[in-house]
Amino acid sequence: MIMNLYQRHIFPRLLADVSKRFTEDRQRLAALLQGDVLELGSGTGESFSFYPAAVKRVVSLEYDDQLLGYQQPQRLPAHLANECLLLQGDGHQLPFKDAQFDQVFCCLVLCSVADPAQVLAEAYRVLKPGGALVVFEHVAAAHQLTHRAQRWLNPLWRPLACGCQLERQTEQRIREAGFCTDKLKRYRHSSYPALVGTFLEGLAIKPEKS
Ligand SMILES: C[S@@+](CC[C@H](N)C(=O)[O-])C[C@H]1O[C@@H](n2cnc3c(N)ncnc32)[C@H](O)[C@@H]1O
Repeated sequence: MIMNLYQRHIFPRLLADVSKRFTEDRQRLAALLQGDVLELGSGTGESFSFYPAAVKRVVSLEYDDQLLGYQQPQRLPAHLANECLLLQGDGHQLPFKDAQFDQVFCCLVLCSVADPAQVLAEAYRVLKPGGALVVFEHVAAAHQLTHRAQRWLNPLWRPLACGCQLERQTEQRIREAGFCTDKLKRYRHSSYPALVGTFLEGLAIKPEKS
């Protein structure tokens, strides 16, 4: 009951606030977007205002209907006003046909989905050959002590952050899903605390021929 109230009424406000802190990172990653884009787990829609002119159409998919209520489609740039679709849906079972999108954008999402391998398999399926998964994700720390702390605190963090996990090996999962990961980098981001301070960002490419 208390957790339910927290998840429905407090967490969305917290997320809306925390999401604003990633503005610079969001802007940098969104600048890589182009063509027909699927944004997975779009949350409160914080990335909408950063979609560049190179994006032709956007489908934004969010699982949580409370978060959807925070989204403001008017934040999308004018050229996307009639080229956007905001949907409620589950990244584990995408309601799209194969090879439909040029890019799939995941900003701080693969930490939170129940089964990243399944979500990545779906992202791979709906991408065109040569298409890209554009990611910005906090992941397991390379530093041993920090990683140990992440593992230890994860059971506490997970319910408070509504499913977010501290120590995901996201790069490995992306590689296992079949993507080429040469254009991904993992690094320690100095703006954030160590527990959530190791990031994976860049493009993971679906090979032309799989
Ligand atoms: C930390 S929030 C990030 C939100 C947003 N991408 C941002 O950058 O502010 C994680 C998001 O993943 C979404 N999510 C979790 N499981 C999901 C699923 N199965 N399908 C789609 N989205 C999911 C959550 O509802 C939430 O919006």
